[in-house]
Amino acid sequence: MKKNENDTRVRKTESISNFYLDSAPILNYHELSKHKRELLCKNVPHSFEDIPAKDIPYIRRWETGEFTEEECEGNELLEALYHRRTEWTFSGGCMPVSDMKKILKFSFGGLYKLFNGRQMRKRTYPSGGGLYSVTPYILINNAEEFDRGDLLTFDGRDNSIRLVRKGIDMDRMDENTSLTYSKMRSFSGASVFVFFAADLKQIIPKYGLLSYRLQQLEAGHMAENLSLMLSMLGYNCVPIGGFFEDDLNRYLGIDVNGQTVLYFYAVGVGE
Ligand SMILES: Cc1cc2nc3c(=O)[nH]c(=O)nc-3n(C[C@H](O)[C@H](O)[C@H](O)COP(=O)(O)O)c2cc1C
Repeated sequence: MKKNENDTRVRKTESISNFYLDSAPILNYHELSKHKRELLCKNVPHSFEDIPAKDIPYIRRWETGEFTEEECEGNELLEALYHRRTEWTFSGGCMPVSDMKKILKFSFGGLYKLFNGRQMRKRTYPSGGGLYSVTPYILINNAEEFDRGDLLTFDGRDNSIRLVRKGIDMDRMDENTSLTYSKMRSFSGASVFVFFAADLKQIIPKYGLLSYRLQQLEAGHMAENLSLMLSMLGYNCVPIGGFFEDDLNRYLGIDVNGQTVLYFYAVGVGE
């Protein structure tokens, strides 16, 4: 290869990698895609009937059969899948601390596993590069052993619940999401809230622009574990994507850690 060609190639690679490692596109997109109060009614005309599922042309089809309750009986995983549902009915009931520990440990906990011949600490959910950059926060409305307004985190490095803040005004939680702000629903009877938060810049040095996708996917894995644990223990829950992010980050006080909420769950005892 001639010297000039070589120089151009090196320069091209450098500019791609500078672009790839620049956090600006991620932060810009994230900012533009935030849910806001003024966007509240924009999605109302669209129901799932207006936007049909995509019909992919196929060559042949096989039936797997209807998902029935009988075939799930006696298998806790299948029962949890069968009963998982989005349900806004919360009785105001208290979550026992034994349930809280079980839910957090099995949804997000770490455990030692033999990996490539050595013991490594893994978790119950997969993580891009094993960096575990999504933090679960738990906000207490009514749970045994904790005070209303306590903010906790769960740390899978030692499977500990850590109290990080006290005194969050729970009467203001409804201000943070579209359906509750518009008084169509209320969080008042929920027992706890579980937030998935991340620092959007944290893993950019390793994954560049891919980081954004990896963190969203990781939050999804954590959320599904949580869904199944809640379903197995008989709790009602609502996964929430329609929240006012800046307000919620300030309300929780996690903005000072450079973190932002990606997704969250309201959890409660059914009626
Ligand atoms: C990423 C995501 C965001 C969601 N955000 C909301 C939300 O903001 N408010 C709400 O009431 N439900 C929300 N849901 C719940 C969906 O409406 C619900 O999953 C869907 O209607 C299917 O019902 P099912 O969960 O009972 O099967 C969300 C679900 C997902 C996966």
